[in-house]
This record gives sequence, C-alpha cells and structure tokens, in this order.
Amino acid sequence: MFDAAIHTDRRARLAATLGDGIAIVATAPEVPRNRDTHYPYRHDSYFYWLTGFAEPEAVVVVIGGEQPEAILFCRDKDESREIWDGFRYGPAAAREQFGFDAAYSITELDARLPDLMGNRARLAYAVGQDPAWDARVIGWLNAVRAKTRQGIIAPGEILDVRHALDEMRLIKDAHELTLMRRAAAISDGAHRAAMRATRPGRHEYEIEAELLCAFRSGGAEAPAYTSIVASGANACVLHYVFNNQPLRDGDLLLIDAAAEFGSYAADITRTFPVNGRFSAAQKDAYELVLAAQAAAIDAVRPGSHWNAPHETAVRVLTQGMVDLKLLSGEVDGLIESNAYTRFYMHRTGHWLGLDVHDAGEYKLAGEWRPLQPGMTLTVEPGLYIRPADDVPEALWNIGIRIEDDVAVTESGCEVLTTPPKTVAEIEAWMNG
Ligand code: GLY
Ligand code: MN
Ligand code: MN
Repeated sequence: MFDAAIHTDRRARLAATLGDGIAIVATAPEVPRNRDTHYPYRHDSYFYWLTGFAEPEAVVVVIGGEQPEAILFCRDKDESREIWDGFRYGPAAAREQFGFDAAYSITELDARLPDLMGNRARLAYAVGQDPAWDARVIGWLNAVRAKTRQGIIAPGEILDVRHALDEMRLIKDAHELTLMRRAAAISDGAHRAAMRATRPGRHEYEIEAELLCAFRSGGAEAPAYTSIVASGANACVLHYVFNNQPLRDGDLLLIDAAAEFGSYAADITRTFPVNGRFSAAQKDAYELVLAAQAAAIDAVRPGSHWNAPHETAVRVLTQGMVDLKLLSGEVDGLIESNAYTRFYMHRTGHWLGLDVHDAGEYKLAGEWRPLQPGMTLTVEPGLYIRPADDVPEALWNIGIRIEDDVAVTESGCEVLTTPPKTVAEIEAWMNG
C-alpha cells in the first residue's frame, strides 16, 4: 500500500509554493502519560502527509527554488534501542525507502539547519504551534544572522507552513479516498457489532468494548477519537465520554465512534433504541433528524458552498421543532433569532481526513467556500431535548445525532459510511 512517490510529489508541491524559501515541518513529540510510560504515539498529520514516515523524532526540510530538495532528519539506527523499542529505519534506509534527497541523524539538526536556512528569502514552519519549537527555530535564525558579515543573509519573511499545507490537504487524492473508505468500512462494521450487542442491562462501556474490538480486529490502528457511548439523558451531553452507565429499557443509545486506518479518520454517529424498537416519540424525533440529514447530504455537491448543508439541516430541523411542539412561531423567525439552537447547538459538519476535524479553511475572502470534488466532510445534524416545563414529556432526554462521512464528487457526493440508518433498517439489524 505504501507508495513513496505520493509523498515525494506532495513535497514537490510544497516546494513550488515556497519560491526561494525553506520549509521545516517536525513530527509530533511523544507525550508522557506518567513516569516512563507514554500515550499511544501518533505522528503529526502535516509531517505524515508530506513523508509517510511514522517514527517520532523526525523533521522534514523542504527547499524551494530552482533545485528543490527534501531532507529528512530522523533517529539513528540503534541496535540496542531496537531490542527495547523495535525497528527504526535510520537515515540511510529512510532516505532510500521514502524518497528523500538526503537524510541525516536528528542529532545533527541544530548543526545543519542554520546552513540550510542561509540565503533563503523565506522560512515556513508551524509558527506558534509549540513555544519550544519556536525558540529553536529562532535560535537557528539568529545563528544565520550571526554570519551576516560573511555575506550570508537570513530569511526576511516568516510564513506559517500550515497555510499552504491546509489547502493541499483539503482536496483528497485517490490514494487518500481509498484509505478513507477503508476507515469507513471498519467503522461501519463496528457500529453494526455495537447495535447487535446492545440490550437492556448491559453497560455503555461494554458497547464501547465492542467498538474497540471491531476497530482493531478490522486492522485499524486506533479509534480516530474518544468514543461517545451515551444512553438516555447522556446523549444530550455533546462530548459525553464517561461511558459508565447501565443501558435502560426504553432509552435511546447514541454512539459517536470511528476508526483511524492508514492515519485517516472516519467519524460516524448512530442513535438507536436500547431494546431494539423505537417508541412513537423516539421515532418522530429520529425521523426528523434523518430527514434533516438526507436534505443536508443532498446539498453536498460542486456548485454548493460549505454552509449549504448546515443551512438546509437547520431549516428542516426548525420546522420539525415546530411540528413536535418544541418551538412555536414562524420558521424564518426562529432561525433568524437562533431559537432553534436550544435543541440543535452544533454545526452540521466539518472537514474530515488525517484529522477528525481536518485541515482547511471554511471561508475564502469572507464567503463560505464552494464545495469541490475531493473534499471530504461529515454531515451530522442532531436534536437534543432536555427536560423542561415547556417541552412535551414524551420527548424528554431524547438525544439524537446521525453522522455520515461524504466525499464531494463531480456530480454530487459519495456517502462513505453505511451502517443501518432508517428506523426499519435499524430494527431489522438489531432483531436479525
Ligand atoms: N466525533 C467528533 C465529531 O463528530 O465532530
Ligand atoms: Mn463529526
Ligand atoms: Mn462524530
């Protein structure tokens, strides 16, 4: 599956944006959990997009101009460390396998960077992402400036490298879409397993365990984000992650969970009855969110703009809130005054890719940006009804979200995620 040419090409695209400049992109640090144990390692998404190189302690330098160059700094080969921590490429093998023009030990970074930066017009890096890294880059800049009487000029412009990379990451290529379909398929299987495992008396964490088992069994590296397994009133807490309550007959269960495969995220939410059958009130609320999602997905196509799915979902949901007697008044006025946000308080989606909330601006020159083929996003309307005197009691503590991942195509969009979704599909699957 790994193809170094994909990443070589991306580095060339970055180089072409730099003119006579240099870009420096570091991967993520290892993060301690306590004492000498660490959180599971996850590389930096910008670095990985440029390199495909997954080891910690690595930096890529991309040089623009007439002779573009890409240089990797990485950990040395070290047989004694490899006995403890496993394989590492070392600069020579990494250069060859990953298609760099040169590769050096990460221990040479401070010694080599000032020379690489000298006489370049501009320097691009992730400005302000990490204060320690800022200080280190400024140290290299000052080392170049110290050579000014030797006729060496330090970069006069500093840019945020993420600006150019965000725009490139926003449009997914065929390789990325293949990985995203795989992440979606694994997550799809996990949701199906979770639905089948759900019944009154089990616990939210047992269902979370089903999801995690399906992710890893399906070949995913990790969950793409912390799984939300929220039953009953917990589903009205948008980022509920305690996942520690028993599942009660008559409640709904909201699961927002998905896998990361090949470093690409899926992001799926399904909401279904713990006992396998929707009550009349649950069905009414559910089918409203389903209708809002269908309308929003329909608005995902070239020629549409980023906010069109959200505006579409809000209109359908607000009309439904009136029909369900959650709100009263004219739909236009209820949207205008944001009255609907009492029951729908988040946006209808976000870019999706290497990061679950992926890179890319949502507006260009003050306008919602047009949707283009290759963009990947979520469509995730919801309805969250907390108990209150002015709310019909049958709807209390119903929290519903339906979230799918879509890729914009030439003619519309491809829906990447397909766990059971209609009332009939869910009931058939749970009772099958
Ligand atoms: N799972 C995070 C989100 O839906 O945005
Ligand atoms: Mn999402
Ligand atoms: Mn989600």
